[in-house]
Amino acid sequence: MQIIKKIDELRPIIKQWHREGLSVGLVPTMGYLHEGHKSLIDRAVAENDRVVVSDFVNPTQFGPNEDFESYPRDLGADAALCEAAGADIIFNPEADEMYDNALTFVDMNKITKVLCGKTRPIHFSGVCTVVSKLFNIVTPDKAYFGQKDAQQLCVIRKMVKDLNFDIEIVGCPIIREADGLAKSSRNTYLSADERKAALCLSRSLETGKKMIENGELSAAKVVDTIKAEIEKEPLAKIDYVEMVDLNNLETLETVQKPLLCAMAVYIGKTRLIDNFILE
Ligand code: PAF
Repeated sequence: MQIIKKIDELRPIIKQWHREGLSVGLVPTMGYLHEGHKSLIDRAVAENDRVVVSDFVNPTQFGPNEDFESYPRDLGADAALCEAAGADIIFNPEADEMYDNALTFVDMNKITKVLCGKTRPIHFSGVCTVVSKLFNIVTPDKAYFGQKDAQQLCVIRKMVKDLNFDIEIVGCPIIREADGLAKSSRNTYLSADERKAALCLSRSLETGKKMIENGELSAAKVVDTIKAEIEKEPLAKIDYVEMVDLNNLETLETVQKPLLCAMAVYIGKTRLIDNFILE
């Protein structure tokens, strides 16, 4: 497995793969890889002849008061995980390599302005821009994204359709710790007490899901019950809990599939996200 930092070094390798008729899978990441990322890489390795994992903490998707500087990084551990999983290349550019005085950005209306987009107004423009650039650099046949970032997955699917990228987007299920906490690089920020408190996300989502399974039809009742359960936890502060139509991310009044029930909750200073989808 190779670690490549320059676009000009990566491109000829991928062109050669395409000439040989080999399929290419891309797993875009910001590094500090965990089991959730590994599940994406495993799937990409199973479904493609060659796999590129991008490992780039993308500055343009962080707001001014967010955790860009402190975001955890460990290229050595990432390389070991990718190698063991059977990836072929880690693409690990510097910010200057990706944004050399760039003046062009990809933005999207509507579905980037709701849910996480309300508190993180520039986030999805940064995501769409870097993912478009990665798509143009790596020219994959398939790209793999986790359902934990459900809004991101929805935004990327829409961008691929709108901009006619000839790439199949593969969404992969959320990977959880044994006690239910969704795996996230940001879990490393949590103290022991915060780690326990963070279970209110998955626990309250389970409660909401059960209400729906038992026939509850009012989206507001489900959301209010989830919020009430989170509010019992003193270290938790809700950013949002919402139930939306999975296709357009518009708020639902009545429980109607396909739906996304998504939340962002601060545990101490750490903002965590989680969700469930019913299709
Ligand atoms: O999901 C992430 O880790 C990032 O948002 C992504 C897709 C790699 C873009 O930087």
